[in-house]
Amino acid sequence: MLREMLKDFEAAKQVGERSARGAHWDIFRPDFDRLIRTEALWPRFRQMGVSYRFDDSFHTGNGRGKRDMLPSYAALEEAKPWRFDGRAVQIRIADFMEKVAGLLSWEEVAFLSECRIGSPPAVPIEDRDLKADWNDISQVFFAMQLKKLFELGAGGRDARPVFLEIGAGYGSLAAKLRKLIPNLQCILLDLPEVNAVQRYYLSEAEPGATVLGAAAARDDVAAALDHADYLLLPAAMAGQVPAGHVDLAANIRSFMEMPISVVADYIRTVQRVVKSNGQFFCANALEKTTSGDVVRLGEYPFDENWSMVSPPMPLPWQPHIVALSLRRGAAGDRLRAALDSLTA
Ligand SMILES: C[S@@+](CC[C@H](N)C(=O)[O-])C[C@H]1O[C@@H](n2cnc3c(N)ncnc32)[C@H](O)[C@@H]1O
Repeated sequence: MLREMLKDFEAAKQVGERSARGAHWDIFRPDFDRLIRTEALWPRFRQMGVSYRFDDSFHTGNGRGKRDMLPSYAALEEAKPWRFDGRAVQIRIADFMEKVAGLLSWEEVAFLSECRIGSPPAVPIEDRDLKADWNDISQVFFAMQLKKLFELGAGGRDARPVFLEIGAGYGSLAAKLRKLIPNLQCILLDLPEVNAVQRYYLSEAEPGATVLGAAAARDDVAAALDHADYLLLPAAMAGQVPAGHVDLAANIRSFMEMPISVVADYIRTVQRVVKSNGQFFCANALEKTTSGDVVRLGEYPFDENWSMVSPPMPLPWQPHIVALSLRRGAAGDRLRAALDSLTA
């Protein structure tokens, strides 16, 4: 598997970068392939700094600042286990479940929870025969929201519905959605380093699935799309996703960390690839500045051909982040007014 990860990483490098990463995501060293080659690291990647910034479990349960938690390459290559404060994680999970009461059940968590791959900091849940991982549990919440959206939308009745996620972290949401919608095709657009992590995660999560990446797609995206259950594409290949191919697109907690020009470019991509009557779930901070730009959800440049499936929903445990559920098609009447009302 590490060989496939490397092949995709090399292919993505040849494709090149389409745009600047911005201050928030300019964090990977150019020799990231060193980490890919470090075999001992991968079975523990979720308790190491590999998924720093795209896995909130990494800094949950420690009292230190996030920066202090970023280990050096030397520490990563030694693959030393990470000590975490399990009680703090338990408290955070209990608080989360309280906040999402009525929206997410323990049964849904039990069905979709995954806390094995990459040895995340999983903790036992009091009074239940269950262990959970903090970041994973938030992905369970999103999976259930997206399943509902699918049922309402264009893809709900398709034999092979298509999900596109831009900025997917290590890939857990896509894996959960395929558990809920087994014939779903998932296309993930991300940075090449994160695509590598996604390939590891998804190949472990679903060993029988066809996982393809830049090496397979670079010369023939159509053939890759014919075969892939998961297609992991570097950001620079966004233009190769065919028009009208996608039933449901999602961007969760990611546009908010990109430069404004990159967000605008991705919104054009989403508008091109989502089918008529398809949907877009966009959950981002009202305002965030870590990319170097002031990125405001209310100012995202959506065109006129979106309507709202439901009113904007602040995430119950992160109310500064608001989820928009949008449908592509006839001009919506209330989206502009709703966006204008979103102020930090
Ligand atoms: C904070 S993580 C969010 C992960 C996941 N969606 C969640 O909410 O837990 C942000 C994601 O955006 C990705 N990302 C950053 N810049 C990107 C870009 N220019 N194109 C695509 N993805 C990007 C990161 O690699 C990461 O997967």
